[in-house]
Formats: sequence, C-alpha cells, structure tokens
Amino acid sequence: MKRMLFLLAFIAPALVNAEPSSQIAWTPDILNLVKNGDLNKGKALAETCKSCHGDKGQGMKEETRDDEILPAIPALAGQVATYTYKQLRDYANGNRSHIQMTGIAKGLTERAAADLAVWFGSLPPAADKSGSKNLDRAEKMVESGDGKRILPPCFVCHGSKGQGEKQDIPALAGQQADYFARTLLDYKNGQRQNDIYSRMRLIAQQLSDEEIKELAQYYQQLK
Ligand code: HEC
Ligand code: HEC
Repeated sequence: MKRMLFLLAFIAPALVNAEPSSQIAWTPDILNLVKNGDLNKGKALAETCKSCHGDKGQGMKEETRDDEILPAIPALAGQVATYTYKQLRDYANGNRSHIQMTGIAKGLTERAAADLAVWFGSLPPAADKSGSKNLDRAEKMVESGDGKRILPPCFVCHGSKGQGEKQDIPALAGQQADYFARTLLDYKNGQRQNDIYSRMRLIAQQLSDEEIKELAQYYQQLK
C-alpha cells in the first residue's frame, strides 16, 4: 500500500500534465457540423454577444472608466469558423477558461456554437489603422521569424495577410491589439493552454513582452 502511494506521487503529476489541451478532434462529423452551421440562427443568437463583441463583431479596445480598467474584447468578425467553434467548445469543456466566456459557452449547444461560428465568419474583418508606429521589427518576425531562437515566421501558419487557415489557425488581421497582446502573454505564462501540440505556447515563450506589443500593433492595422 505504502509503495502504491509512493508510486502515485510520481504518476499523478504526469497525469495532470497529460491532460489534453483541447477535446476537439477534427472528425468528419465536427467538420460537417460547422460547415452546415445555420447563418440565420447564428445571426439571431449573436444578438446576445453584441454588448461585448460589438455590433459588427469588431470587439472592443481596452478602456478606463471611473478608474476601472475594462479589458479589451476580441474581434470575431471574419474569423475562421472552425477556430471560433473550437474556442467555444474549449471554454465549455474547461480547456480554456475565462470569467465570462466559460459560462456563456456552457450555455450553448454544439449546434448553436457552430451557427454562431459561421455567422461571425461571414462578417467582414475590421482593420484599425490607429496607434501603429514603427513596425519593422514585427514585420520581420512575421515574414522571416528568427532562426537563432527557432521561431518560425508567423505567416507560415497564420497566412500572408493574417487571414488564418483551417482548421484551428485563427485570422489575426484586424484583431484588437490589447486582446492580442494579452492572449499571447496568457500563452507565454501558461494561463492559456488550449493550443493543440503547444504550437502557440512554444512560440510565445520565446517572444519578449515588447515584441508581443509590436506584433499586436502590426496585426491590428493589417487588412
Ligand atoms: C460579458 C462580455 C461578453 C459577452 C456577452 C460575450 N463575450 Fe465572448 N469574450 C469576452 C471576452 C472578455 C473574451 C476574451 C476572453 C479570454 O481572454 O479568454 C471573449 C472571447 C471570446 C471568444 C474567443 C475569441 C478568440 O479570438 O479566441 C469567442 C469565440 C467568443 N468570445 C464568442 C462569444 C459569443 C459567440 C458570444 C455570444 C453568444 C459571446 N462571446 C459573448 C466577452 C464576452
Ligand atoms: C506552427 C503554426 C503557428 C505559428 C508559426 C504561429 N502560430 Fe499563432 N496560433 C497557431 C494556432 C494553432 C493557434 C490557435 C491555438 C488555439 O486553439 O488556442 C494560434 C493562435 C494565435 C493567437 C491567438 C488568437 C486569438 O484570437 O486568440 C495569436 C495572437 C497568435 N497565434 C499570434 C502568433 C504570432 C504573433 C506568431 C509569430 C510570432 C504566430 N502566432 C505563429 C499556430 C501558429
């Protein structure tokens, strides 16, 4: 018995680490569910998202109101539908967690999540030219990466215009810079871990906070 407990002490942490980053598997059933998402139902359901994600799905900047910081909210307009579907299921299944989104996603059926994902994917992405400064370093990272740090260029996955790629690679063009930076920091410190094969965590861990801010600015103004 004692020996069992001793062994368990070693095995238990390994089991915790072995927890899947996401429970989404891209089976034909799931791909069909999203492909056949109902635009009109999605549009109707999306009424409840507007107060936060904006009336055009453009998200919101970080704001300070009465000394309180209201954190930025991601744009959903023009997002790859399978990516949006995956995020909603990851929140519902506990693989990604957020004080508001976890409860909202738990309240959606898989079909409703697919309908919403298709609706937001049909909206034109926003691009915000404000706030851009010298973005040469970010542009270099996006186009060439950094061989010294084993950093692949962002474009190989996210596309040359930041348009994303099926199934689970998000569009980044027009994304709210403050949200973009926050979620990269969440990958960097392990707070967000729903990226299958740790693809984004391994990259974010190697970026400086300053580089993350510049990349966020770069993608926000991209159209
Ligand atoms: C109370 C405000 C609020 C409401 C209402 C809300 N959201 Fe969100 N949503 C957020 C915030 C804040 C985040 C960022 C959470 C994080 O950092 O994980 C977010 C994140 C998301 C993401 C992840 C985006 C990404 O780029 O990874 C999706 C998808 C999403 N919301 C969909 C929806 C849908 C669909 C609805 C309506 C059914 C909705 N949200 C309603 C505040 C809200
Ligand atoms: C190997 C492919 C790959 C490369 C290279 C890559 N990404 Fe990603 N990225 C992903 C995947 C996959 C996800 C979504 C993971 C998930 O489901 O959470 C993602 C998610 C993101 C997100 C979160 C978007 C959102 O809406 O929440 C940001 C921001 C991001 N990547 C930025 C970058 C930047 C900046 C670079 C270059 C420094 C980069 N990525 C390079 C695959 C990649």
